Amino acid sequence: MSPQSIGVVMNGVTGRMGYRQHLVRSVLAINEQGGVPLAGGGRVLLRPVLVGRSAEKLERLSAGHDIAEWTTDLDAALADDTNLIYFDAQVTQARVKAVLKAIDAGKHVYAEKPTAETSEDALALAEAAAAKGVKNGVVQDKLFLPGLLKLRRLIDGGFFGRILSVRGEFGYWVFEGDWQAAQRPSWNYRTADGGGIVLDMFPHWAYVLENLFGRVTSVYAQAVTHIPERVDEAGEAYRATADDAAYGIFELEGGIVAQINSSWSVRVNRDELVEFQVDGTHGSAVAGLRNCRIQHRATTPKPVWNPDLPVTARFRDDWQEVPDNAEFDNGFKIQWERFVRHVVEDEPFPYDFASGARGVRLAELGLRSSAEGRRLVVEP
Ligand SMILES: NC(=O)c1ccc[n+]([C@@H]2O[C@H](COP(=O)([O-])OP(=O)(O)OC[C@H]3O[C@@H](n4cnc5c(N)ncnc54)[C@H](O)[C@@H]3O)[C@@H](O)[C@H]2O)c1
Repeated sequence: MSPQSIGVVMNGVTGRMGYRQHLVRSVLAINEQGGVPLAGGGRVLLRPVLVGRSAEKLERLSAGHDIAEWTTDLDAALADDTNLIYFDAQVTQARVKAVLKAIDAGKHVYAEKPTAETSEDALALAEAAAAKGVKNGVVQDKLFLPGLLKLRRLIDGGFFGRILSVRGEFGYWVFEGDWQAAQRPSWNYRTADGGGIVLDMFPHWAYVLENLFGRVTSVYAQAVTHIPERVDEAGEAYRATADDAAYGIFELEGGIVAQINSSWSVRVNRDELVEFQVDGTHGSAVAGLRNCRIQHRATTPKPVWNPDLPVTARFRDDWQEVPDNAEFDNGFKIQWERFVRHVVEDEPFPYDFASGARGVRLAELGLRSSAEGRRLVVEP
């Protein structure tokens, strides 16, 4: 059976995420492997149509990857009936308007997180997609990281007993841009441009917590701007108006307490850029992007507090590596394949705009909690 091909309008592919993770590591990689394998047999190839603001950049990009179609005219790309999917990895601020246009044109829509800057807008997207009857999805890549897949396996296998708490540590030092170039775009540090680590990371924590441990029932957060001035891509100093660190406590259904630090102003003294420690009555685990270590109650050492003696125990040696037991593909690509099967053969896809809206709402409540200095209930 020769593979069918569907047009995918891709907006924001000149950006960091749009280019590397979505175009190169997902859509082009899928085509290189012969398309998305369908449950019902056969394969679907993806025909990317690159959309953006700069003709020059798009032309260079399509020539470099042998991509036939690109345009700066989003309306024209959406008017083509052979384009079934619209994908958006633009800066957050530009997302709602473009996604609404795509929904209006009857396209199935897939978008980066956060789906919007406010929960009102994020809900409006979910409602518009539902009203038009188009499939919709939001990127929730962290769920498909090898480390978190191993954590999922431990939960499913009953390893933890009753889960008590989750401690997440995310972050790294983002250079200020003066003597070494910043490794993230400057819009991330300006509130007016849709920046801020709460809006960036709380949507991730929302779906990670909800999918692995349970619904978030309350949030307390302290969002701060540790570095008040940075230097942008053009070498100009600017005021960082957005939060660059957030210290959050989330209560989850079932009484689990999750505490997650997110920071672009922290130096890494961990094995990975994100790590989650999960403690349960029967065992504990520390999961990162790729690896996951465990300690069972039967192998838990008994430390005794005595500051008069030097520490001789090597606590980390008492942990055991969880084996891969599988081959792990790129998380963004796995989710693309699932979204395409959702569109083509109606495979269930729980990562929809409604779940994206819950992520935006958690960010919004986190910022409000910080501003008001109090814990806020997250309504179901
Ligand atoms: N899933 C993840 O792990 C993850 C990680 C980083 C960023 N993101 C999300 O992806 C999106 C893009 O982030 P990025 O880091 O790739 O950003 P980026 O600045 O590298 O890219 C932004 C893209 O949007 C386009 N754009 C459209 N309108 C624009 C405007 N008015 N101003 C500036 N650029 C405009 C740019 O041309 C570019 O293609 C954001 O919504 C961000 O929250 C997701």
